[in-house]
Order: sequence, then structure tokens, then C-alpha cells
Amino acid sequence: MKTIGIIGGGQLGLMIAEQARLLGVRSVALDPAPDAPAFAVTDERIVASYDDREALEALCRRCDAVTYEFENVPGDVLVPLAEKYRIPQGYKPLYDSQDRLREKENARRHGFRTPDYAAVDDEASLRSALARIGYPAVLKTRTLGYDGHGQQMLRSGADLEAARRLLAVPCILEQFIPFDYETSVVVVADRQEAVSFPMGRNVHRDGILDLCFVPAAIEPALEARIRRTAERFMRSAGYEGILAIELFVRGEEFWFNEMAPRPHNSGHYTIEGATTNQFRELVHYLVGEPLQRPELVAPTVMKNILGQDLEAARRVAAEGLPQVYVHLYGKTECRTKRKMGHITFVGMTPERYAAEWADRFVK
Ligand SMILES: Nc1ncnc2c1ncn2[C@@H]1O[C@H](COP(=O)(O)OP(=O)(O)O)[C@@H](O)[C@H]1O
Ligand SMILES: [Mg+2]
Repeated sequence: MKTIGIIGGGQLGLMIAEQARLLGVRSVALDPAPDAPAFAVTDERIVASYDDREALEALCRRCDAVTYEFENVPGDVLVPLAEKYRIPQGYKPLYDSQDRLREKENARRHGFRTPDYAAVDDEASLRSALARIGYPAVLKTRTLGYDGHGQQMLRSGADLEAARRLLAVPCILEQFIPFDYETSVVVVADRQEAVSFPMGRNVHRDGILDLCFVPAAIEPALEARIRRTAERFMRSAGYEGILAIELFVRGEEFWFNEMAPRPHNSGHYTIEGATTNQFRELVHYLVGEPLQRPELVAPTVMKNILGQDLEAARRVAAEGLPQVYVHLYGKTECRTKRKMGHITFVGMTPERYAAEWADRFVK
């Protein structure tokens, strides 16, 4: 029996471990929190911080292959381990995504278009970047941003005051793209082939993914072009394993926004909405089994359950409706805006969701 290791024990680790179990693969997770969601499912637990070398080495020793669901694993810890143990995705995709400036340079180098951008370190460089890029623009911290944290929209000079608080750390200024919609593509690649998942339309609220509608209702030719660009990007950048790429789409054009070398929230729908899912294909990759090509089962809607929607989600779960799949991650502390679970509605259209379901959740 094979064993996989997961650095990070959040909901992504939980769902990787669930799929591993279904495939007869053991799992071990490492997380600093003793009550991390993944620990409810993994065969073994290691409670330790992400920069604890000995604990990470103990994880690697127990596993045939190790992956990560936490994006900020430090390179000085991971690189030496990757030389000694099987961490087949390696440090490179993490390194390339840990800094938004490097991430965008890398995306351009390997075939994607990105919004215009400039490095910003102080007020003078912010002003000269704005002179070139123009309003509206988005100022973001280069590292450690997530779910809309560490960003400031700049519509006019009146927003400069609010931007100042970000400038304590290195930033990037990006051209604002007035997109028609946002989408993302998840690719899993081994040495032989790359498979990508059907793409959805991502709707954010307060900088956090709220809904994902699949299919994205993109022109099939455009979706094929994006998926091909993403698969080639992975090859060209020298990555394998799993990669999720967020994009902006306007008309026939698309822009790379950001990437993550781990399963993605917009891909949760694949568990029930596709013939194979992002977690299962990651496990296939890790244990060296052939990848399966996913197909959409039916139109699907994924609703993220944040703290404020947990009670509503529990009521939906109690109803036990067919094709309505409630996932609760078992987080012990419930907070507003914290991701507590998600619901997947299979055989659901955006119109029916709006008419029958939207009102049940906090607006
Ligand atoms: N350059 C941009 N143009 C338009 N919208 C943007 C831009 N950058 C960010 N956004 C909006 O903010 C959201 C969060 O930004 P993102 O860079 O994905 O950071 P996070 O790491 O918080 O997800 C995006 O999904 C998008 O809705
Ligand atoms: Mg994002």
C-alpha cells in the first residue's frame, strides 16, 4: 500500500486525503493546528510548523511521495528535502508563485498574456507606475496575499492615501482588467500527458470565491485555447503535478491573473460534477498511476460556505436532496468570511440556482 504526504491540513488536504482513501492510498498530513480538518481523515498526523525541518523530514520518510496544499512553504526547508525524498512537484512552482512579480514575469515568459504591471517599493515608484499604467489599477503586496487581502483598488488620486499602508512591504501595481468574467483552469500533468478540467465561471464576493458555474458558457474554441495554453505553460515552465491558473476573460481575450500549484477552490465541483476530480488526479499523479481525462457530468453550481452561511448549509444537508452535495470541513472555529464548506449542485443551471437557491444564503 502506498502512502502520500500532505504539507498542510486544511480543507484541500482533507479532500486530497479523502480521495486517497477511496483509491486505497494511505495519507499523512503535517499542520501546526492539532484540530486541522485533514487530520479527521489522514492515517497519520504530524502537528508541527511549516518550517520545522525535522518534522518535515519525518513526514517525507514515512511517505512514497509528498505534496503541499500550503503555498508558503519556505524554500530553504523544501529544497534540501526535495533532493533527498520524492516531492515530485518540487519547489519551483511554489517559488514561481510566492511573489506576484516573479509569477507574472514567469507567466509571460511561458506563453500567457498578463495585465500590465510594475514593481512598486515606495511613493515615488507608485507615482511613476501610475503614470504609465493609468487608473484604474490594483496595488497588491508581492507576497502572502490571499482572498483579496493585501490589495487596494486605485480609481483616482483620492485612493492614494489608502494605498500608502500597503507600501510598508514590496508591492506590484497592476492594470485593472474590466473583465466580462473570471475563470480558472486546473491542470494535472505527469511525464506522459497533461489533463485539464472543464472550466467554470468564478464569481467573487469581498475578494473571496463565492460561486462557480460550470460550464463557463465560454465559446468552446476559446475554452480549448485557454486549456491548451495552460497545458503548454506547465510543460514550458517545467512543472508537473497539479496547477491551477486564475484568468480574466473579456470577449475573445484572456489574461493570466495568478496560479497555485495545488488543488483550487473553483475545482471543488469536480468531486461530483465531473467523471474524475482534481484531488483524485493529484493522487493518481503522486502514486504513479495513469491520469484520467475528466468530463463534465452535468451543468453544476458550486456555492462556497463561509462562516455566515454555515447554519443555512446545515439545513440544506439535513434535507438530503438528490444531487445536492454538502461538504463541511469540520473546522472547530466558525468565523465570518472563513471557508467552512461548500455545496455542489449537480444538474443545476445558473438561472435555476438564482431562482431556487440564492435566497437561502447570506446576501
Ligand atoms: N488586475 C486586475 N483587474 C481586475 N480585477 C482584479 C485584478 N486583480 C485582482 N482583481 C480582482 O481581485 C480578486 C483577487 O485578486 P487575486 O490577484 O486573485 O488575489 P488573491 O490571492 O486574493 O486571490 C480577483 O479574483 C479579481 O476579482
Ligand atoms: Mg485569486
